[in-house]
Amino acid sequence: MVTIAVLGYGTVGSGVVEVLEKNKDSINKKAGKQIRLKYVLDRKEFKDNPINARLTHDIEDILNDDEVQVIAEVMGGVEPAYTFVKKALLKGKSVVTSNKELVAKHGAELLKIAKEENINFLFEASVGGGIPIIRPLNQSLTADEIYQITGILNGTTNYILTKMSEEGLDFDSVLKEAQDLGYAERNPEADVEGHDACRKIAILSSLAFGMHVDYKDIYTEGITKISDRDMVYAKQIGCDIKLLATSKKIDDKVYAVVAPIMIGNDHPLSNVNGVFNAIFVKGNVIGDVMFYGKGAGKLPTASAVVADIVDAVKHLGTNIISFWSKKKMKMMSIDEVPAKYFIRVKRDEESKAIINKIFGFVHVVYSGYEDEIAFITEEEKEGELQEKVKALQEDTEVLNVIRVEK
Ligand code: HSE
Repeated sequence: MVTIAVLGYGTVGSGVVEVLEKNKDSINKKAGKQIRLKYVLDRKEFKDNPINARLTHDIEDILNDDEVQVIAEVMGGVEPAYTFVKKALLKGKSVVTSNKELVAKHGAELLKIAKEENINFLFEASVGGGIPIIRPLNQSLTADEIYQITGILNGTTNYILTKMSEEGLDFDSVLKEAQDLGYAERNPEADVEGHDACRKIAILSSLAFGMHVDYKDIYTEGITKISDRDMVYAKQIGCDIKLLATSKKIDDKVYAVVAPIMIGNDHPLSNVNGVFNAIFVKGNVIGDVMFYGKGAGKLPTASAVVADIVDAVKHLGTNIISFWSKKKMKMMSIDEVPAKYFIRVKRDEESKAIINKIFGFVHVVYSGYEDEIAFITEEEKEGELQEKVKALQEDTEVLNVIRVEK
């Protein structure tokens, strides 16, 4: 028998307890031992809930109980999660977590402690919810040199962009509808500004490239400026607009970007719709692989947390090696990255001449809107394109700029 504790009884925590109960027999068989949930930590009281029998408000009850060997941290946020997790690892207890803020910020340090203590720190649920991606990167794709990861890593924004594309609606009304339906948070900033996807690609990149990719070094742009007109233009050129999180290794440098991108309809990620997530990985031996599934939600996320609990139980006394050193990865400036831009400007008598003067040859995209001109640039380094956009802004009104990958 292995005794465990769950920190946090919110959406994911209650899902973990539910999955442990619902699939008890098969989980115990797969773990090779009986799993006994002794504690659930939460600040709140839960009226008339059987969880009360295991509820504690004091982390010390769990940390000081030598019976507890595995802890699932599903509270979210950096503190107090970081303090609790670090203390637990230093006491020789394995920890599994769904907490992307914690992993993106302290993953390298917590993995190092787990290695020194010969225990495990596992975080499958921190990226892509129920989609297995951390374990494949750590274990299944080890024959490969991974050189690119591109993902749709945020369900909220993918839901919004899908709705805008399918129903011709504008961003604000779809966001409001998503909030009313409970798909989007009341404070949607972390999702719509790309911060959530940024932390997730930082975690995947650190694991894929073996060094610490700091999320603060990742160029991040959200979807708030995407309009219904942008969607019309995207369709016109055989594209969809998706919030893509990409990291790519070129020689010994890595660049990482989170931004809305017009991608061709023939790209597998363009067919990933609604709240679904997908991660497209390129390896030098395997070629292309893609992982698809539910990137959020109570039970999909709990599924990944419980799978990590099973793995931690199976590997008591053995550290599962992960390659993520504390050494910071040298990041390539986004200015050096080649890109093509889709640009819309307000139409007047001079706009065509101004565009040609600054960009030379461009591909005009026709849409039927009389009051604007849209075009796609040739491929150039982002730094050069940004300079040209600045020059364009001096002479005309730039309505939007979106990267194109087609
Ligand atoms: N807010 C996230 C999303 C879910 O919309 O994908 C948790 O990572």
